[in-house]
Amino acid sequence: MQHDLLSPQAPEMEKIADGVFLFRSNVDEKQFMEQVNKVIDEIPFRHMITPGGKKINVAGTSMGKCGWYSDRRGYRYEMSDPISKKPWPEISSTISKIITDAAAKAGFNNFIADSCFINCYSPGVRLTAHIDQDERDFTQPIVSVSLGVSAIFQIFGKTRGGKALNIPLHSGDLLIFGGSARRLYHGVKKLENTVHPLTGDKRINLTFRKAL
Ligand code: SIN
Ligand code: FE2
Repeated sequence: MQHDLLSPQAPEMEKIADGVFLFRSNVDEKQFMEQVNKVIDEIPFRHMITPGGKKINVAGTSMGKCGWYSDRRGYRYEMSDPISKKPWPEISSTISKIITDAAAKAGFNNFIADSCFINCYSPGVRLTAHIDQDERDFTQPIVSVSLGVSAIFQIFGKTRGGKALNIPLHSGDLLIFGGSARRLYHGVKKLENTVHPLTGDKRINLTFRKAL
């Protein structure tokens, strides 16, 4: 993108709402995609099952000390992949530092992610409103990085319904939700059928968390 020399530069970080911070076009997409590719070489994207037996339409995998997991036994963090029995691939120290530094800019000091859930959305797939609540410490934020096809991230309130705050997320955007926003319902609207040079018709999202 070309910047007019006379116009002020876009701020690195925007506060969208209480506890919600957006860093537009912030990360090196290729660097993050390389990390994702290393993970899926080891443990490919998979459609997990809810405790109630429904297929989760967003495919997922994990990296870090532990990985979020769901099957008939419930939602939880697992120290290794229950199917392949392999430990989750590591979060590289370079990526980990980028996430820690961004969190600090939003006022969340010493955030060290021990888990990163990687979501893969195909055209037409949405993520229904939910709260991330399988982590131990809700004072720790969630740091999310989007790659590939754009999508609308929605933040609701303390209940599932009502009017949402719609945040379009594009490839390379980094979003933080913590503080009073940490336990709000949120979701992602149906993915449009379009393509992006990095991911084809997919959207990939990485959510870095401190789970343990
Ligand atoms: C999530 O809420 O777990 C994922 C959010 C996203 O895909 O942007
Ligand atoms: Fe979530």
